[in-house]
Amino acid sequence: MKKLTILLSALLAVLACSKPAPQEFHVIPMPDDVTIADGSFKLTGADISIDENLDELSIKAIGRFADAVATATGKPLDGKGSGTIHFGLNPNLAAEQYFVEVKKDGVNVEASALNGFVYAIETIKQMLPAAIYGNKKAKADWVLPCVTILDQPRFDYRGMHLDPCRHFWSIEETKRYLDVMTVYKMNRFHWHLTEDQGWRIEVKKYPKLTQVGAWRDGTVIRKDWDSNDGIRYGGYYTQDQMREIVAYAAERGITVIPEIDLPGHMVAALASYPELGCTGGPYKVWTRWGVSNDILCAGNEQVYTFLEDVLTELIDIFPSEYIHIGGDECFNKEDPVPWDSCPKCAALMRKLHIQPGPQAKHYLQNYVTERVQTFLNSKGRKVIGWDEILQGKLADGATIMSWRGVDGGIAAAAKGFDAIMTPNGYMYFDYYQSQERDKEPFGIGGHLPLAKVYSYEPYDGLAPGVEGHILGVQANLWTEYIATPEHLEYMLLPRMCALAEVQWCARDKKDYKRFDASLDHTFEMLDAMGVNYSLDCRGLIGLERKPARSDAELEEYLSKKDWGW
Ligand code: ACM
Ligand code: ZN
Repeated sequence: MKKLTILLSALLAVLACSKPAPQEFHVIPMPDDVTIADGSFKLTGADISIDENLDELSIKAIGRFADAVATATGKPLDGKGSGTIHFGLNPNLAAEQYFVEVKKDGVNVEASALNGFVYAIETIKQMLPAAIYGNKKAKADWVLPCVTILDQPRFDYRGMHLDPCRHFWSIEETKRYLDVMTVYKMNRFHWHLTEDQGWRIEVKKYPKLTQVGAWRDGTVIRKDWDSNDGIRYGGYYTQDQMREIVAYAAERGITVIPEIDLPGHMVAALASYPELGCTGGPYKVWTRWGVSNDILCAGNEQVYTFLEDVLTELIDIFPSEYIHIGGDECFNKEDPVPWDSCPKCAALMRKLHIQPGPQAKHYLQNYVTERVQTFLNSKGRKVIGWDEILQGKLADGATIMSWRGVDGGIAAAAKGFDAIMTPNGYMYFDYYQSQERDKEPFGIGGHLPLAKVYSYEPYDGLAPGVEGHILGVQANLWTEYIATPEHLEYMLLPRMCALAEVQWCARDKKDYKRFDASLDHTFEMLDAMGVNYSLDCRGLIGLERKPARSDAELEEYLSKKDWGW
């Protein structure tokens, strides 16, 4: 009897293995439609066949997959295995949709364009042992469960932002960021390239932007804004390097959206070309955090020439439909605005019939925004701006990025503008993940645990019928207090996984319990990639996995960094 019981439980175990329960399917973001069947497909030695009509980038993506399989399994895909993995073109699928069918004797992958193939591959990789994400041979059960998947995203715009101005991230570090975005099926990289604390892009017509504006004389020590380490800090991306990032992202279905933040957050440019400010300076690249009151002079034609010249070079590098033109935090509530006491700005306000009063500065900002928008529209591009650009009167066709909570996005949609939701209470990944701040590496403040990111519903609060104006969701990662990749990744992950489900999954497919159960596999994947993450959601607060560097180690890291010049 005992023997029979053991046999029976062994049989049940086998059955359980061959047909994983849905909760064992740990792909993030969870695909839309998944049907798991019996059995599995042996990956080692499988053949790969590709529809001859596939485009070059899709073929390249499949090539990267084949290389990853060969590396991790130690065996090339040479057709000596159990069947064929076929990548076929299916024009009936939407550009980001894909179909995967795994049977015991073959795998069929269908998509109509690069993004669909990239996402199909990422789903397949997540169904494999986590070592597929590593760069060495690993002993593992190299099989895919039999399954049928038809998948597509909820939102078209699935973004992640990075600030290389407060702290600079090399080209290699930026590519790694894009690699992680690829795993979680994101398709927009918002690159915030200019700030009071550093100008980060080469502009051939204005060399002082990088000779002067890319460097500051020191950085705030820890969180003491009145301190300064006195160490020159900076860096910038050459135009070739930016092109390299654009191409690297494009191969992974990601569009890079560059941001030139204007007319505020411009002190690095003013330090380089002081004639662009209301007072003529002198100005210095900021060594403090926060936002300077010094902004571009709205009444000086030279400023518009400068902006058009910069944007002309920028759009030659970045083919994105959208260019982000910033527009946030031009005015500090308590402080006087330089525009108020500038004769050139006063003359322009008179010409525009802007009446003095608290709204005047918003109307003047509207003028700056519209000039830049008209220029970019004439070049076939559209603008995105932070939600401040909605104050006063915004010209048609601009897209709002809602960051001061959800209100900007809700108001924008009600007025007929498109919006991207990046509400700080849910989507600012520089906030602390736990409330035990003394155990955490620095955050800017706030409290944004994983479950809160996951809970965000982009349609909440919208007037009925305007949902179509919400293009999507993005999280922002500002780096005032983040100086190393291990800290950057700690802030990013696993919150980025929660973001991915907000962006990708239909409302009824979201399930925090299922998501949480999938995280252990994602942590193994990140381990294989050598990417750091926070375990706050498992009660392990802080950088235990990759302890913070000592001051000496940090100095060594900074001195060795490829700063990009
Ligand atoms: C912002 O966080 N100032 C857009
Ligand atoms: Zn002025």
